[in-house]
Amino acid sequence: MSAPGFYETEQAVAEYLLFHYGTREQTLPWAFGPADALDYPRRCISECLDLEHLPAQARALDLGCAVGRSAFELARHCTSVIGIDASTRFIAVARQLQTHGSMTYAYAEEGRLTSPATAQVPPGIDRQRVHFEHGDAQALRADLGAFDVVLLANLVDRLPDPRRCLAALPARVRPGGQVILTTPCTWLEHYTSPTQWLGGYHQDERPVRTLETLRTLLEPHFTLARTLDLPFLLREHARKYQWSVALATVWIRR
Ligand SMILES: C[S@@+](CC[C@H](N)C(=O)[O-])C[C@H]1O[C@@H](n2cnc3c(N)ncnc32)[C@H](O)[C@@H]1O
Repeated sequence: MSAPGFYETEQAVAEYLLFHYGTREQTLPWAFGPADALDYPRRCISECLDLEHLPAQARALDLGCAVGRSAFELARHCTSVIGIDASTRFIAVARQLQTHGSMTYAYAEEGRLTSPATAQVPPGIDRQRVHFEHGDAQALRADLGAFDVVLLANLVDRLPDPRRCLAALPARVRPGGQVILTTPCTWLEHYTSPTQWLGGYHQDERPVRTLETLRTLLEPHFTLARTLDLPFLLREHARKYQWSVALATVWIRR
């Protein structure tokens, strides 16, 4: 099992380090622009985590954790966090940040021009609570156990078989536990065969959207507590960005 090619590249590492740890000045150095879309990996937790449903000594799982920022943010509230990603490079970088707290890298400006930067885990986060490992969100190791929080941030529309990943969730979430699932619903044949898409197609001439399929798959086991529209900004280079609005849903395990 390996991650789709892009997530193993130098470009992806730099883009995701900036996406997860970049400052406003590095990411959006203009007086204008969608500043409310910055800090997405932090906001997936600060805006979505239901603190009322969180027990003391909570265990959390971040599936498709990339370079780790949301996993570190979960450690503000949970005593044990596991981050899993299929990209060996992302996991190597996340482990470096876990061990050292910071690392230097270079992000794209224009063509071959780059700027140096330091990615830093925010001080005050107990990095010892976090563990990163390489793995497949569609085939988690059997002895992983159950969790109080499972985060799937922008993951499902990058999986070959998102239904298989979602089918495993009931066994992975403790009663009263929560699933935070965000997705920009960017279904692409490159990652997911159209027969496996959760939305974005017609069935019997009726449009099928991702939220409808999520409800069909998850509501037998979970109660949909909240839906949010969560903007995010992915910087490709100094003058090129992807601005997206993820559909965020929070599900409570019955
Ligand atoms: C669009 S990125 C989102 C990363 C991160 N959650 C975020 O919000 O910034 C998708 C992530 O899923 C990972 N991924 C892709 N297929 C995977 C799989 N089968 N199992 C685990 N992670 C996977 C990629 O390596 C990448 O880190």
